[in-house]
Amino acid sequence: MAKALGNVEEEDRRDMRMMGSLLLLAILAFDLVLNVSANAEGDALYAWKTKLVDPNNVLQSWNASLVNPCTWFHVTCNSDNSVVRIDLGDANLSGPLVPQLGQLSNLQYLEVYSNNISGTIPKEIGNLTKLVSLDLFFNRLSGPIPDTLGNLQRLRFLRLNNNSLSGNIPMSLTAIASLQVLDLSSNNLTGDIPINGSFAFFTPMSFRNNPGLKPQKFPPPPPRFQIAPTPSAGGPSSA
Ligand SMILES: *[C@@H]1O[C@H](CO)[C@@H](O)[C@H](O)[C@H]1NC(C)=O
Ligand SMILES: *[C@@H]1O[C@H](CO)[C@@H](O)[C@H](O)[C@H]1NC(C)=O
Ligand SMILES: *[C@@H]1O[C@H](CO)[C@@H](O)[C@H](O)[C@H]1NC(C)=O
Ligand SMILES: *[C@@H]1O[C@H](CO)[C@@H](O)[C@H](O)[C@H]1NC(C)=O
Ligand SMILES: *[C@@H]1O[C@H](CO)[C@@H](O)[C@H](O)[C@H]1NC(C)=O
Ligand SMILES: *[C@@H]1O[C@H](CO)[C@@H](O)[C@H](O)[C@H]1NC(C)=O
Ligand SMILES: *[C@@H]1O[C@H](CO)[C@@H](O)[C@H](O)[C@H]1NC(C)=O
Repeated sequence: MAKALGNVEEEDRRDMRMMGSLLLLAILAFDLVLNVSANAEGDALYAWKTKLVDPNNVLQSWNASLVNPCTWFHVTCNSDNSVVRIDLGDANLSGPLVPQLGQLSNLQYLEVYSNNISGTIPKEIGNLTKLVSLDLFFNRLSGPIPDTLGNLQRLRFLRLNNNSLSGNIPMSLTAIASLQVLDLSSNNLTGDIPINGSFAFFTPMSFRNNPGLKPQKFPPPPPRFQIAPTPSAGGPSSA
């Protein structure tokens, strides 16, 4: 009787040890996943570094052998060691933006203005759904503004001015309700300027110096500002 009870207790202890080991394994696996994802962001940034010409050595601290990019200069992480800011304005960098930048899933600020960045804006930038500010102005970017930027539903600042961007302004941008500052001036954009959605707030200042852009046709003012229509003014008649 007492022996049987002892066996039960021992079995309980064994079960608990087993559960403890499983828990430890789970924690280790979770930690591994976190570290791997942190490395993935470092790898993405390092892939960009390898494509850049950096005469002022501003990217010297971007060392791929570190466990994550959070100690690199010009990179800011959150408390989960995930990149939230890249501050590389006015850094004398040449070369392209790379699709791997789209992997920085917590990025809020991409500040790469006043450099010599060329090539196209990767459509993968549209994957950065936490982005608040996309500042690529004063560079040598060409090609279209990707349609995918319309996915950036938290974007407040979109400044792409003083590049050589061409093609139409994507209609998808009108759906970014959070947009507060838009500067597409001094590019080579063509076609119509959207006037609906978030674009209802932007003036011609945002679009100037794009020779191929058609002037904005503002919609008629809302009825409360209109003078009462006179039936004889050549409008539709019920004749
Ligand atoms: C990167 O860090 C490792 C280890 O700290 C060091 O040995 C190596 O020289 C560094 N590489 C560069 C390019 O700074
Ligand atoms: C930028 O880099 C070029 C070399 O590519 C160098 O001649 C120039 O002095 C640098 N400009 C600044 C402001 O550091
Ligand atoms: C700008 O980048 C181009 C290559 O894309 C290079 O030929 C040129 O020297 C760079 N200019 C400066 C000022 O760094
Ligand atoms: C990133 O964007 C590209 C192109 O817009 C898309 O094909 C890809 O599936 C996206 N990747 C992720 C991880 O969301
Ligand atoms: C941006 O473009 C405008 C219009 O061409 C020009 O006046 C201004 O100097 C440009 N700024 C830079 C930094 O290139
Ligand atoms: C603008 O586009 C036209 C025709 O597509 C081209 O000839 C011109 O060089 C472009 N200008 C700039 C500044 O990219
Ligand atoms: C703005 O109008 C275009 C059609 O002209 C439409 O595709 C787009 O969805 C509209 N945007 C919003 C935010 O309603």
